[in-house]
Amino acid sequence: MSTNKTPQDLEKIVSEAEDFLPLLGTDYVELYVGNAKQSAYYYQTAWGFQPVAYSGLETGNQDSTSYVVQQGKIRLVLTSPLKQDGPINKHINDHGDGVKVVALWVDDATKSFEETVKRGAKPFLEPVTEEDEHGKVVRSGIHTYGETVHIFIERKNYKGAFLPGFKAWDKPYKTQDTGLKYIDHMVGNVGWNEMNTWCEFYANVMGFAQLVSFDDKDISTEYTALMSKVMSNGNGRIKFPINEPAEGRKKSQIEEYIDFYNGAGVQHIAVATDNIIETVTQLQQRGIDFLTVPATYYDTVLDRVGEIDEDLQPLKDLGILIDRDDEGYLLQIFTKPVLDRPTMFFEIIQRKGAQSFGKGNFKALFEAIEREQESRGTL
Ligand SMILES: [Fe+2]
Repeated sequence: MSTNKTPQDLEKIVSEAEDFLPLLGTDYVELYVGNAKQSAYYYQTAWGFQPVAYSGLETGNQDSTSYVVQQGKIRLVLTSPLKQDGPINKHINDHGDGVKVVALWVDDATKSFEETVKRGAKPFLEPVTEEDEHGKVVRSGIHTYGETVHIFIERKNYKGAFLPGFKAWDKPYKTQDTGLKYIDHMVGNVGWNEMNTWCEFYANVMGFAQLVSFDDKDISTEYTALMSKVMSNGNGRIKFPINEPAEGRKKSQIEEYIDFYNGAGVQHIAVATDNIIETVTQLQQRGIDFLTVPATYYDTVLDRVGEIDEDLQPLKDLGILIDRDDEGYLLQIFTKPVLDRPTMFFEIIQRKGAQSFGKGNFKALFEAIEREQESRGTL
């Protein structure tokens, strides 16, 4: 990751956003998991992430072990406790495996902390400077929805593999990447009537602006409904849609998530590719399970979205969905939950001009999710 860019170099594209918290991008996403070693192997083998850094007993960490893997700009940290009764154990007990940290890359972690706490953020980590032979990193953190936190990472004076306390992890076992480039957006599920609270948090505390809003008329099927608003920072590098359940005849997927996660948390991580057909072909061959829509979806999709560069047949074979907005079109597909509980999943997205989120696919998609819920007895 380049360290010589400053926030001022980045073009502001969301004009309503405020500038007091310049964010350079997502630094990493940390999941607390039951078995970090095996999770790392899963992300390497199935998803094509590469080994980057390690922390554990061998590096003097007596309490937890972490594996850092990366593909493109997407960096995942997989952390497990080494002893009983700590905060990581409690997180796993309460939520199952899940995202604890959405770390944001900043130029000044101290200022990021001060500016957000001043505006009402609940502190998680006071600014702390950590050093090793590769330089120094400043970290600070605030709470967001549920037990999820944002950690601000200032790494302009650091050249090590990841963070002080980690050693470079160069495992000889390497897998072919699957073409994943960066995190396009990360979605949070929050409880009944909490969507506006958290959108206001991102607006007031972090200076984000609302890009779009979907109500239960946009996002409903015969049985279930949800509402969603998309919040973005000024340069558009950080986009956080926030979902809440809405009344329907049956239990919405957001309620199912909240029940199994025991509260609000990260629902899906959307990762971008430049070639979704290649990426999804690879992922399917490596055993990733995707949601499927009925074949009839493809009978009418081109009437809705118009001409596209790709042949329809491979998209149909792989189950990739298509949507169009004023600026172009997008291709997207969603995995089934990647954890034991029906909580977190991934979206693979290829944008061809479109900056939206696939509204035209919501109905087909949510009906696919309902079929999965039905099989789990949670609809
Ligand atoms: Fe998404």
